[in-house]
Amino acid sequence: MISLQHLSKTFETGNKKVEALKDVSVEIQKGEIFGVIGFSGAGKSTLIRCVNLLERPTSGKVFIDGTDLLSLNKKELQKIRRKIGMIFQGYNLLKTATVYQNIAIPLQLEGVPANEINERAKKYLSIVGLEDKAKSYPSELSGGQRQRVAIARALAHEPEVLLSDEATSALDPTTTEQILELLLKINRELGITIFLITHELNVIQKICDRVAVMEAGEIVEQGTVVDVFAKPQHPRTKSFVRNKSVFHVPAHIQNELAKTGKLVALTFLGESSKEPFLAAITKKFNIMPSIIAGGIDELKDQSIGNLLVHLRGELEETEKAIAYLKNEQIIVEEVGSI
Ligand SMILES: Nc1ncnc2c1ncn2[C@@H]1O[C@H](COP(=O)(O)OP(=O)(O)OP(=O)(O)O)[C@@H](O)[C@H]1O
Ligand SMILES: [Mg+2]
Repeated sequence: MISLQHLSKTFETGNKKVEALKDVSVEIQKGEIFGVIGFSGAGKSTLIRCVNLLERPTSGKVFIDGTDLLSLNKKELQKIRRKIGMIFQGYNLLKTATVYQNIAIPLQLEGVPANEINERAKKYLSIVGLEDKAKSYPSELSGGQRQRVAIARALAHEPEVLLSDEATSALDPTTTEQILELLLKINRELGITIFLITHELNVIQKICDRVAVMEAGEIVEQGTVVDVFAKPQHPRTKSFVRNKSVFHVPAHIQNELAKTGKLVALTFLGESSKEPFLAAITKKFNIMPSIIAGGIDELKDQSIGNLLVHLRGELEETEKAIAYLKNEQIIVEEVGSI
């Protein structure tokens, strides 16, 4: 659906050059929710703005449904942009217009007939749960409600793709949850493909199917959310995933435990969680396991179990136990060792 190929973008201000994107390639499939996560300045907004050419890449190609956007003239580009809705952290609502007008005015400019504008405004205000706020002004709404208006405004153009640039970053955790639920509903019920960028792991975890991790203008890792959570490879990905998980062990505890055995992070996916593996390794090998921490990460369609276990014992025995666990389809990563 969206194919970003070898995108690079260099900003030149005065004699300073910033390489905001360096050879970034991403494929987004129809119907999925794809997230890009990265710290501030990683190049996320620049990337998402390339999708509708709000930002023109210095090099590389942008395809939507096979159409090469960079080859289009102004009129053709305008037409294809109608397939693409966008929402932002700051909502970008017209302050002097009512909720209804915020939705209606852009449709009027596009030449949509008046009766259809009315129908669409009603329909999408109802989808976002704000039927009763049509006559309110943005200043009379909460942040979450304003974002709902922005979402209704984007949906009213009946796009195929919704781009979201940090849409929940200014909201509190409960409101964030509600907006994420709404985005899921839009994806499932209206079949709209969503491409979002965020610095919050929570957003990726709750609603995304696939994720790319960005750092300093590059994508350093991408894959399904399940794979990236269960087996993060790049240090930046690990810092995102591990920072919130039970595997984040203070150094002094890690050092202390490492003196008497191995500290291992165990990850359980699907079938690997049914056996009483701790009892099994205690029986089979000369080790004493103890649980240091544990938790479950709820992803969109799956849960991942995390357990931090100290295997007290001699090196040889702990290694045998680790081999046994790996054989049981448990993902094992050593956090510290003798
Ligand atoms: N119009 C511009 N002119 C010059 N430099 C720019 C411009 N837009 C972005 N940059 C630079 O490009 C880099 C990437 O910026 P970008 O806004 O894409 O990051 P981001 O990942 O979205 O960050 P944040 O999470 O803070 O929004 C930054 O170093 C930024 O200063
Ligand atoms: Mg940004």
